[in-house]
Amino acid sequence: MAQRELSVMRVAYTAGEFDESALAASWHEQLALWLSDAVAADLPEPNAMVLATADADGLPSSRTVLAKHLDERGVVFFTNFTSRKMHELQDTQFASATFPWIALQRQVHVRGPIEVIAAEETAAYWAIRPRGSQLGAWASPQSNVVRSRRALDRALEQAARRFAGDDPVPVPPHWGGVRIRPESVEFWSGRPNRMHDRLRYVLGDGGDWAVQRLAP
Ligand SMILES: Cc1cc2nc3c(=O)[nH]c(=O)nc-3n(C[C@H](O)[C@H](O)[C@H](O)COP(=O)(O)O)c2cc1C
Repeated sequence: MAQRELSVMRVAYTAGEFDESALAASWHEQLALWLSDAVAADLPEPNAMVLATADADGLPSSRTVLAKHLDERGVVFFTNFTSRKMHELQDTQFASATFPWIALQRQVHVRGPIEVIAAEETAAYWAIRPRGSQLGAWASPQSNVVRSRRALDRALEQAARRFAGDDPVPVPPHWGGVRIRPESVEFWSGRPNRMHDRLRYVLGDGGDWAVQRLAP
């Protein structure tokens, strides 16, 4: 695509007012409301978020993951512990994630320390995953360099043989849930003339949340 075409792409944001009086009492209630709006709007993968991490030298990386649980403690996604993201999370203990609901002229950023969720919580979600996805988690050394597609397919066949029969597939030791425990959550809503609304819940030292308005 010619550079000029990119430079002239321009969308007018008209989502309407989003002010302090419209905010829910807590960040997680507000995020739950916007997630429901994204589901109701039939967006593809409405719970997808772009997860940003950094390595020990500060080199950033990002990728999409699915938010699978939300409550006052934080936002949970599931992943493979052999992955680059997990190594980076172990190094820095912090993550940021963005829900990019462009079609709704909205985005939300969460940022905070992370924790690996309890094994029972992981097991509860694992149990509702399709068997094929469970076998895939056993077969994939996520983010490692592999010889070929064929090697991956073989690893999946091997996992299928290992867990043949009707017994439930156990949770792999290298797989589980990670919770981002937000210290700041920003809600962004598009407005005309690029004068967007940005409202941020921030956790203070005393454990209370405050709301701040940011310039667009
Ligand atoms: C829509 C979508 C959803 C995804 N959801 C997840 C997920 O929930 N967990 C996960 O580990 N990877 C998920 N992925 C794959 C990741 O984006 C990424 O390729 C993988 O986790 C390896 O990332 P890493 O090498 O940076 O650790 C998803 C990808 C897409 C496009």
